Amino acid sequence: MQKILGNLVDAEKGIIDRRIFCEQDIYELELKNIFARCWNFVAHESQVKEFGDFITTYIGEDAVIVTRAKDMSINVMLNSCPHRGNKVCFAGEGKVRSFVCNYHGWAFGLDGALNGMPANELYDNTPGFDKSDWGLHRARVETYKGLVFATFDHSAPSLETFLGDFRWYLDAILDNDDQGTEFLPGTTRSVMDCNWKYPADNFVGDIYHALWTHLGGAEATLAPYGGVVVTNEDSYQASVNGHGWEFSVANNFGNAATMGDKEIIKYMRAREDEITAKLGDVRAKMWGSVGSACIFPSLAFLPGYFTFRTFLPKGPNQTELHTWTLVPKEASDEIKDRWRKGCMRTFSPTGILEMDDGENWEHATAANKGLVTRNQKLCYSMSPVEQDTSGALPGTVHKGQLTDANQRLFFKRYGEFMDAETWDDIPMAPITR
Ligand code: FES
Ligand code: FE
Repeated sequence: MQKILGNLVDAEKGIIDRRIFCEQDIYELELKNIFARCWNFVAHESQVKEFGDFITTYIGEDAVIVTRAKDMSINVMLNSCPHRGNKVCFAGEGKVRSFVCNYHGWAFGLDGALNGMPANELYDNTPGFDKSDWGLHRARVETYKGLVFATFDHSAPSLETFLGDFRWYLDAILDNDDQGTEFLPGTTRSVMDCNWKYPADNFVGDIYHALWTHLGGAEATLAPYGGVVVTNEDSYQASVNGHGWEFSVANNFGNAATMGDKEIIKYMRAREDEITAKLGDVRAKMWGSVGSACIFPSLAFLPGYFTFRTFLPKGPNQTELHTWTLVPKEASDEIKDRWRKGCMRTFSPTGILEMDDGENWEHATAANKGLVTRNQKLCYSMSPVEQDTSGALPGTVHKGQLTDANQRLFFKRYGEFMDAETWDDIPMAPITR
């Protein structure tokens, strides 16, 4: 495998080799050096609120179960029986006391421990057999203000170090009042025939596409008020450890406005002073302004709509999306329901804006498969704005949201992970907040 950074990824000039979007051996290395190594988002705490609650998802291509055990700990473990490998849970979510494997009936607790099996005595009479050796393989689990992350790499630094100062930005959404947030019930699952990095790079810093891709959709939803207004005045891109957020500070409801629901706008405007008092003017605007964000490698969200989504890789040419709507717990049931409907109208498999995006990512992925095409480069060089070195905002900050800066930093991070032998080779930004 050739070196990624400096060879397939030139993060300084913004020149990216298309082979990272289509080649199988590069994809296999992504599973090993990125997904099996990183902290991956697996659930919101509200999805496993009570003892017995579980949901299933993936870390890379590894199926995992997220549970709430009796001691109220959150557990993440492989959804694969250590006896012959069968899946132990086929449901997306639910409530159980234990997981019983379909094949031979081994039974596992909510913490993954092997509790028993049919004809127990066969194993009781097996010299050296110890049930405690054969539980479901567990991941490390840590949370940040409701978001649950897991990693299979026991040498990974803490989640706090991994997120670094990006936590300061995340608080705009996760910690702007005393009650915190929750996911509305239900997970939307869909499959796109695209490389997982297309949606990740789109959310980490590509508002540029909205001026063109979403023009028709925005006008259709908003009628005469449609049209997408984005400028480099009063806007920024911020990046920390490859996690990125591009955002406007013109107002606190720009994204939400395209859901076309006046009651949501009223709610957001009414909360601006309170959030400004708690978090300051910039983050009070970031809560809902025109913007998008991605936590490396593949958890993305949109302020305002509060759609959260993971891009789960299924080979170099396919991605499974799991999406949810995050809401402030303190909002009324009516406002939460308006958010649910607004989010579904815009960012769901049938949402008018999500369909706009998916078509582009699928066509780009398909085009890159061509033998001559895959040996060409992609242009990530747009740099119309200066870096903001004032230190007012944490991380690497650029003055304007129409730039490829965050995407270059995302792929720089991608290269650092892909080329690293161990976590010691991966640089971490200092924590300042
Ligand atoms: Fe699970 Fe045999 S494969 S009990
Ligand atoms: Fe889009």
